[in-house]
Amino acid sequence: QKIVIAIDGYSSCGKSTTAKAVAAELGYAYIDTGAMYRAVTLYLLERAIAFHDLPRVEQALHEMQITFKRNRKTGRNELCLDGVIREDEIRQMRISNSVSEVSVIPAVRHALVRQQQRMGRHRGVVMDGRDIGTTVFPDAEVKVFMTAEVLTRALRRQEELAAKNEHVSVEDIVENLEKRDHLDSTRAESPLRRAADAVLLDTTHMMIDEQVDFVLERVSA
Ligand code: C5P
Repeated sequence: QKIVIAIDGYSSCGKSTTAKAVAAELGYAYIDTGAMYRAVTLYLLERAIAFHDLPRVEQALHEMQITFKRNRKTGRNELCLDGVIREDEIRQMRISNSVSEVSVIPAVRHALVRQQQRMGRHRGVVMDGRDIGTTVFPDAEVKVFMTAEVLTRALRRQEELAAKNEHVSVEDIVENLEKRDHLDSTRAESPLRRAADAVLLDTTHMMIDEQVDFVLERVSA
């Protein structure tokens, strides 16, 4: 019996690393919903479409194609915008700095939530994001809500960016994480919050393997 596993929480808590490993372990699909909000942001920025210009944003949502393509070498799902892999660009700070202003737009959320529900309709998916257990799949069989101290998160994010040759100060990253967490948890449309039936996982002092085991134990329970 295939299920849906929803992993929500604050920015850079290790959601995607954990979700990816859980999916690989179970032979499930992994869907990074944050990548989809990042892709919309990249699309709007590249075309200089103002975020408040609702008709143009709606038109853009209608035109753009967001898909995931499996990289055979790494086994990872890579985000494609209009058929082109944009995985590296969507992770850059310029996108991180704008994405939470885009993800508050109700039209953006409606379009992406609908697409995410379609992608998970056969179940057998691990989805990570901010509103999976509350809005996208409120009936998910396993729900985890992840948190960690902000400095720990910033240091992990700094390392990830450095590996891609983007060097950002810890202060700038902390500022970005706190700003996003604030915007994400105070927006009107499906704000970031723990679903009543989600288990809390604080990853501040945890290793990836422990996080993965924690989720897998919930699956077999
Ligand atoms: O997960 P990631 O940090 O890549 O997400 C980037 C941003 O996308 C978040 O800060 C949030 O504004 C938005 N997001 C969202 N709902 C989701 C996933 C991401 O609003 N399900």
